[in-house]
Amino acid sequence: MNATHLPASLEDLDTPALIVDALQYERNVARCFAAFANSRVTVRPHLKTAKTPIVARYLLEHGAQGICVAKLGEAEIMAAHGIDDILITTEIVGAPKVARLMALLRDHPRIRIVVDSLDGAGAIDQAASGLGLRVQVLLDVNVGQNRCGVQPERAAIFAQQMQQFPNLELIGVQGYEGHLQHLRDPEDRRRQARAAMESLALAVVGIRDLGIAVPVVTTGGTGTSVFCAEHPLVTEVQPGSFIFMDSDYLATGGLPFVSALTVLATVISAASSDRVVIDAGHKSLSMDSGFAQPKNLSGWRYEPAGDEHGLLIRDPGATVNLTVGDRVELIPSHIDTTVNLHDAFMVQRDGMLEDCWPIVARGKVQ
Ligand SMILES: Cc1ncc(COP(=O)(O)O)c(C=O)c1O
Repeated sequence: MNATHLPASLEDLDTPALIVDALQYERNVARCFAAFANSRVTVRPHLKTAKTPIVARYLLEHGAQGICVAKLGEAEIMAAHGIDDILITTEIVGAPKVARLMALLRDHPRIRIVVDSLDGAGAIDQAASGLGLRVQVLLDVNVGQNRCGVQPERAAIFAQQMQQFPNLELIGVQGYEGHLQHLRDPEDRRRQARAAMESLALAVVGIRDLGIAVPVVTTGGTGTSVFCAEHPLVTEVQPGSFIFMDSDYLATGGLPFVSALTVLATVISAASSDRVVIDAGHKSLSMDSGFAQPKNLSGWRYEPAGDEHGLLIRDPGATVNLTVGDRVELIPSHIDTTVNLHDAFMVQRDGMLEDCWPIVARGKVQ
């Protein structure tokens, strides 16, 4: 469906459908950039959630200094849509990916990548040498998430070893503290983010002590970016979920962002008085962070009931009645994995549909 064929209102839209509340989305974006308006720290939002060039462009027009993506496939989509100030935040390993990276860099040399192994770095260096490319690289540092990244105390030696690769230009470090994003208590989150930034600083200082410049120090997510930015060595933050938010993030204290994304569903069966069935199950709402929350339906809770079906279960205190044909909205528990299930964002403002944004990088997991 393109924007010219949109039904006029939400009522006329087929379901299940992913709905963006334009006002809340714009408010979230404005609040994020306002938080860094007087800061020396720039914002490079993460598009691994939204996966949509239209959203990327809106962010760039409202204060973003480049974007992040998680995967090469997402970078290919963004570049094809004219956006190429991109940091790919996941290590690129394996001959097929390295070949695709080279093809992308040939036309988009500003794209930056991360590395955390000499094998990985060496393969990219070798591929780049044949093409006369100089690849901008950030060293990925483990600041406590224990996922990718070299240990902070090994960063300097690693940076030194990278000098053997003439086609890689080390421009900085990335240290993402994903394990802290959802800590409910803001003070606890601030304290732990500060400690994570201290380990990132250990890496930066160690590298600089060798006479190697570290112009970029990038870190942070929706839950921690303002805390990370308090550290004097941090230059850039990469929040992403703030754009739409989900029920898991909404339960995280101290964040100024609101829910801007729901799944619209239809009641397709109401055979029992204490539950109804809707047309949104595992294929419409991800469950990795728990179940979605019905919106404005107090006393009803959601449970998946299969790939295509979901249950809304009535608690005794529920005041709203639901019957076949009724429409309900659910707040996803995890937006990244929910968005990846859908073809498009349907954009509404005050109940009127105003646009349809194709989720062009949906499914681009390679
Ligand atoms: C490396 C990296 N940076 C930034 C983010 C954005 O974090 P959030 O979605 O919590 O804002 C993510 C999300 O997973 C990430 O993996």
